[in-house]
Amino acid sequence: AAPDKRLRIIDRTMRLHGYASHALIETLHAVQEAFGYLDSDLMRYVAGRLKVPLSRVYAVATFYHFFTLKPPGEHTCVLCKGTACHIGGAAEILRKVEEMLEIHTGETTADGKISLMIARCLGSCGLAPAGVFDGTIVGNLTLDTVVNKFQAWRP
Ligand code: FES
Repeated sequence: AAPDKRLRIIDRTMRLHGYASHALIETLHAVQEAFGYLDSDLMRYVAGRLKVPLSRVYAVATFYHFFTLKPPGEHTCVLCKGTACHIGGAAEILRKVEEMLEIHTGETTADGKISLMIARCLGSCGLAPAGVFDGTIVGNLTLDTVVNKFQAWRP
């Protein structure tokens, strides 16, 4: 099989950091960005390449709330909780969304359709409050915008 492009991104991240153990967090970020979650085989792979114990990889992966060890749902909704978005009312939207989907951030709905995540800043503060829906940034979010997205995903 052709080498997975996403694997090459992960290899590149490790190479960039000289395979030093301090590259662990950066590499896990790369894994999560490429695959949507930290797959156990990939964590083993990273541990091997960076020569850190697998237990250390798990310790880091479970310590930070922005890492998830479970595969994401069919669709992903990332809501920004950064300062600009917070001022714009992101907390209230997030609270309602969690209530509506009956999950907390970092979780996937029972039907496997929607994963909810939060970001610290999406780098689009001018659009606050902002979110990313299946990879597309949406600004000036309101609860209605989010509800419409979810309805399209779960007709
Ligand atoms: Fe939300 Fe920057 S604080 S995009």
